[in-house]
Amino acid sequence: MYPIKRNRRLRTNEAIRSLVRETIISPNDFLVPLFVVEGKGVKDEIPSMPNYFRLSLDTLQNEVKELWSLGLKSVLLFVKVDDKLKDNKGTEAVNPNGLMQRAIKAVKDACPDMIVMTDVALDPYSIYGHDGIVENGIILNDESVDVLSEMALSHAVAGSDFIAPSDMNDGRTLKIRQLLEKEGYKNTGIMAYTAKYASAFYGPFRDALDSAPVDLVDVPKDKKTYQMDYGNRLEAIRETLIDIEEGADIVMVKPGLCYLDIVREIKNEVNVPIAVYQVSGEYAMVKAAAERGWLDHDAVMLEQVTAIKRAGADIITSYFAKDVVKLIS
Ligand code: PBG
Repeated sequence: MYPIKRNRRLRTNEAIRSLVRETIISPNDFLVPLFVVEGKGVKDEIPSMPNYFRLSLDTLQNEVKELWSLGLKSVLLFVKVDDKLKDNKGTEAVNPNGLMQRAIKAVKDACPDMIVMTDVALDPYSIYGHDGIVENGIILNDESVDVLSEMALSHAVAGSDFIAPSDMNDGRTLKIRQLLEKEGYKNTGIMAYTAKYASAFYGPFRDALDSAPVDLVDVPKDKKTYQMDYGNRLEAIRETLIDIEEGADIVMVKPGLCYLDIVREIKNEVNVPIAVYQVSGEYAMVKAAAERGWLDHDAVMLEQVTAIKRAGADIITSYFAKDVVKLIS
């Protein structure tokens, strides 16, 4: 008898396909990255990220209200820092009245139930565009971690729900956890960027925040001494196990699409929630191809976020979040 199995029966029409579909996207899947700038009434489109904007505190408040009404319940905040406030020590990063600290409060004021996660790394605050303190061509680990812990604490004090260290220094999750506990912020969580690769896909993000490593003698031009080598798989597991031991509540893989094998490996290995960051360059590629009429924007977007979830993501961090939710509602 031929064929003995007919798999196409389950694909006959949309009704049966939807009945047996294994991965379904909903607003609950998403964490929305947002870029914050000083000013009033600012909604400034990022050239390499079409239809994505830098927002001032007032327009940020409108945005989070809209996100909430669409069923999106968490945001990840990044700030663009004035050049005058940048140094090599992260002074502004720990300012209790800094832009990030005010942004956290602004979101909570506008939308008290919105989960606020905040990026912890020095790059937007660094004259060198590095995630830590630079000395003689080296990004110092332990000295950077000390500042990053203070930065994390200042976010917690301002009301951040989850600290998101994206710096890839060793031991930072433990140091942050210890300081939060010591200061009484027991319920402030940590979403650690655990398997964060030194990737060329972060370009548009660095445009958005003006945070790219600078071209100077004695300053490394890339982040390869702290972010992971993209040839590595086992190292991602090592990083993940350590981050969880150090107290991470959520671990992250970043970028997304090129790293879905890593997502699945980690999913099979550990039992904490996994966030995947579909990064700026991934967003830009889809936008650019769609603008040229080379790809169907919405179809590709939905396929990509579904693939990320299918690979094992519990949380999808994506610039497409709002578009996807509008599309599927
Ligand atoms: C900062 C940080 C970066 C991203 C998130 N946090 C840039 C970098 O590491 O250079 C990239 C996000 C994106 O490209 O969308 N440490």
